[in-house]
Amino acid sequence: MARSLTDGTPLGVIGVGHLARFLVSGLRRSGDARPIILSPRNAVTSADLAATFGCHVRTDNQAVVDEAGIVLFATPPKACLEAIAALRWRPDQLLLSMVAGVDLAALQAAAPGARVVRAIPAPSAEAGADIIPICPEDCDVQRILAPLGEILQVTDEPTFQAIAAAGLCQVWAYGLIDAIALEIGAAGVPAELALRVAAGHLRAAAAFADFTRDKGGPRARLDAEARPGTLTGAGLATLEGAGAFEAWRRAYAAGLIRSRGHSSHAP
Ligand SMILES: NC(=O)c1ccc[n+]([C@@H]2O[C@H](COP(=O)([O-])OP(=O)(O)OC[C@H]3O[C@@H](n4cnc5c(N)ncnc54)[C@H](OP(=O)(O)O)[C@@H]3O)[C@@H](O)[C@H]2O)c1
Repeated sequence: MARSLTDGTPLGVIGVGHLARFLVSGLRRSGDARPIILSPRNAVTSADLAATFGCHVRTDNQAVVDEAGIVLFATPPKACLEAIAALRWRPDQLLLSMVAGVDLAALQAAAPGARVVRAIPAPSAEAGADIIPICPEDCDVQRILAPLGEILQVTDEPTFQAIAAAGLCQVWAYGLIDAIALEIGAAGVPAELALRVAAGHLRAAAAFADFTRDKGGPRARLDAEARPGTLTGAGLATLEGAGAFEAWRRAYAAGLIRSRGHSSHAP
């Protein structure tokens, strides 16, 4: 695993949008004080991040690459390869792509000589609560991103793509938590407490799924609890009757196709 960068190595960001916002916020919240250099496009977000987190906005993408030891790419997929190929990269400069659906071979061809690593974070990185796949293994990227959550170092790209697509499930789960919290609130519980309860139960379910990893998994426990005549069984019948779990599987499958290679704009 390559490792050459220090904790003070400047981080450049090309593609300053939603991802850049939560990532920069997460790094600063975790105490990362390295210089952060931003591309100028999307002037409103760049200026906001500069003012809020002490970042520096440069005049063009090349100025970001020239100044940064690590260059995080977060443009839309369609713009990514052309933008990378238009830049001069130093040998062994770290290009960290967070662009979905653009593979290592294409990135490497666009930036010959650069060290290319992929990572796919989700908005929970801002809270240090994410689970982030990176490919290939890289100690520098592991160290930089570790404060944002659990890092999964993956050697083969198909596995990385499948794990990366699962990040979408996390984001959809924000909607699931919201829907449950709304119903708890409609039953008379104050909204803030309702959200805390809904999030707490999803967090407990996730922790329990971890606990059952070598004990048959969480579904076995659900089936054991959902006996005929129980509230658990009645609710499970409602969910399965509505195709709730099947819908999640279909949504993941569609996300996986995009994760394996985009054919259209797919942020
Ligand atoms: N959002 C997420 O949660 C998330 C999670 C994982 C991965 N990703 C990946 O991260 C990337 C960005 O997603 P996003 O949600 O942050 O999208 P976004 O909000 O649209 O941000 C992308 C930014 O890149 C800018 N841009 C486009 N072409 C550029 C170029 N040639 N040079 C410099 N900047 C350029 C865009 O500017 P304009 O608006 O002027 O075009 C925009 O500000 C996507 O590839 C997506 O697959 C996103």
